[in-house]
Amino acid sequence: MTDFKRYTITAALPYANGPLHIGHIAGAYLPADTYVRYLRLKGEDVAFICGSDEHGVAITLGARKEGVTPRAFVDKYHQLMKKAFEDFGIAFDIYSRTSNPVHYETAQEFFKTIYDQNLFIEETSDQYYDEQEGIFLADRYIIGTCPNCGNPNAYGDQCEKCGTSLSPKQLINPRSTVSGKAPILKPTKHWYFPLDKFESWLKDWLIEGHKDWKTNVYGQCKSWLDQGLQPRSITRDLDWGIPVPLPDAKGKVLYVWFDAPIGYISATKEWKPNDWQKYWKDPETRLIHFIGKDNIVFHCIIFPSMLKATGEYILPDNVPANEFLNLEGEKLSTSRNHAVWLHEYLLDLPGRRDELRYVLNSISPETKDADFTWKDYQQKVNSELVAILGNFVNRVMVLTWKYFDGKVPSEHELPGTDERRKRILALYNQAHNDLNKSVKDMADAIKNFRFREAQFQMMNLSRIGNKFLADTEPWKLAKEDMEAVGCILNYALTVVGNIALACEPFLPDGAASIRKQLNSELLEQSRKKFWEKEELVHVVPQHHQLGKAELLYRNVEDADMEKQVARLKKTPATTSAPATENAIKPLKPEIVFDDFGKLDIRIGTVVSAEKMEKSNKLLKLQVDDGFGVRTILSGIAQHYTPEDIAGKQVTFIANLAPRKMMGTESQGMILMAEDKDGKLRLVRPIDDVAPGSQVS
Ligand code: MF3
Ligand code: ZN
Repeated sequence: MTDFKRYTITAALPYANGPLHIGHIAGAYLPADTYVRYLRLKGEDVAFICGSDEHGVAITLGARKEGVTPRAFVDKYHQLMKKAFEDFGIAFDIYSRTSNPVHYETAQEFFKTIYDQNLFIEETSDQYYDEQEGIFLADRYIIGTCPNCGNPNAYGDQCEKCGTSLSPKQLINPRSTVSGKAPILKPTKHWYFPLDKFESWLKDWLIEGHKDWKTNVYGQCKSWLDQGLQPRSITRDLDWGIPVPLPDAKGKVLYVWFDAPIGYISATKEWKPNDWQKYWKDPETRLIHFIGKDNIVFHCIIFPSMLKATGEYILPDNVPANEFLNLEGEKLSTSRNHAVWLHEYLLDLPGRRDELRYVLNSISPETKDADFTWKDYQQKVNSELVAILGNFVNRVMVLTWKYFDGKVPSEHELPGTDERRKRILALYNQAHNDLNKSVKDMADAIKNFRFREAQFQMMNLSRIGNKFLADTEPWKLAKEDMEAVGCILNYALTVVGNIALACEPFLPDGAASIRKQLNSELLEQSRKKFWEKEELVHVVPQHHQLGKAELLYRNVEDADMEKQVARLKKTPATTSAPATENAIKPLKPEIVFDDFGKLDIRIGTVVSAEKMEKSNKLLKLQVDDGFGVRTILSGIAQHYTPEDIAGKQVTFIANLAPRKMMGTESQGMILMAEDKDGKLRLVRPIDDVAPGSQVS
């Protein structure tokens, strides 16, 4: 590998059209963050760049759906995503946004540079137009049947079912996503980037020059190039976006996929206004794009051609794209609310960021789609983070406090005379070799963007450490050979220190906790050496006073997981807006006492409960009301099972006129409290009362 002077690391600019979920994190942001942390630990000069992608149809359609302006829409989601990234500890140097003035300037200048070379093709052609709405229908404004797989809901730019990239004219039976109507054709002028002219250059640069790229990335690019490239339109008729900087282009904006990747450059400018150029123009800078697989052609074919066309910029040296993450065996979906939202995770499971990093890294969809399940999450945290890493660190700390008052024991050589000491020496040598090998393998894996493997090797350090303790059994030696106990623990502490260094890119919070426990300045000073030499370093000087032992990780309880699983089963959110604000409903208008007096509210005991046939909402309850048993239907089937509710006391309105539902008469209404998240809970007396008791 060539030696580079510095690194520009980008992570795909997420659309500001909804909150972030674990699929985003596993796809691009976590691998990028892990890699960047590694580079920084090595002392490299790094720019870690990201920001919100605030243009395009994803934004205008989203805003329309929420009934707000695109500006208000992106403002909301930009803030939300920025905060979630910060809270989760993704350590960007800058998180910018493409609605910033510096980005407008940069993107327009970029366009002009290519325009001035007469590279663009200017062409007027017939395009689909929605007469009712008065808008041209590009990209996601139009759907129709995919010519490739027959999916009836393929978009004008891509079929999400088979992944084929499309143009609106290829759709069969096209219709407007705004009005639902069939469009007419109408002439309009656009500018096209001549991708075809870059084909032979791309074959050289990419197909010949980058055989080192991941096979999923390389394969997709090759198949694109094999099919031959066509000019691509890079402007749109939209009223939201960056105006095309030409006098005869009123009402035209840059296509979002033209402006967004330029956002990496503008964000760097915003970060270092006087010093950004070296991150983009010096061939000794290594540019790497972290993305998900749906972004591959844009980052490997289109954007590089644009960069090449300007003649000013460096090109990506690698694009380690990930495949997709599924959730509990199903595709993640914003509209069905089938997702684990990052900001909700951080609220629900505070102080547990490392866990999510660990689990997502260990199932990272590096070579194929992967599946996240809460059961697996619990299992990985409890039996790996807690039982292997946390346990090793804690054992060493506790033993050192127990036998040496928390002072690092002396590190004298063990004279190898008696058998027992010889054995300890052999175990030490074995552990040392194994540890150094794992450190090397870990570093190699990071360099090759294999973060799963890297994290596994990192965990191996604790596995080896645990084995060393189990084999040498210092607690058994304490009576006879304190010198040997000292040697064992001295070495075990070295291992703990090296684990603190090794886990920093993966588990930043855990690393900080171990540093605090070891309380050694040498640890901070040895970082660079450790990551440069890729072998164990000396980090805990003898006789040094350790800090107090604290638990690194704690077990994930069943209840924590059940809560998360239940969240997934909840009815879809009406908007993708998160319920961070207090959602308590406003008070109803005032009433007089007589109004209340008309209600006959009673307590009853549920004698039996069953699901209503053909309804997923209703339970049919037989309620003892003191006079006898009455039937009440209640819309709580999504919140309680019949078993949950049988035998319980409930509060009900006893004098409500009977109502027939699905052929059964309901003789009353059960009272429920609705929780902020829409969950219904039974209202009942603290102590049981006689059925029929009146509530007043
Ligand atoms: N917003 C796009 C997406 O979420 C990614 C844009 S990456 C950039 O799929 F390079 F264009 F910025
Ligand atoms: Zn298709």
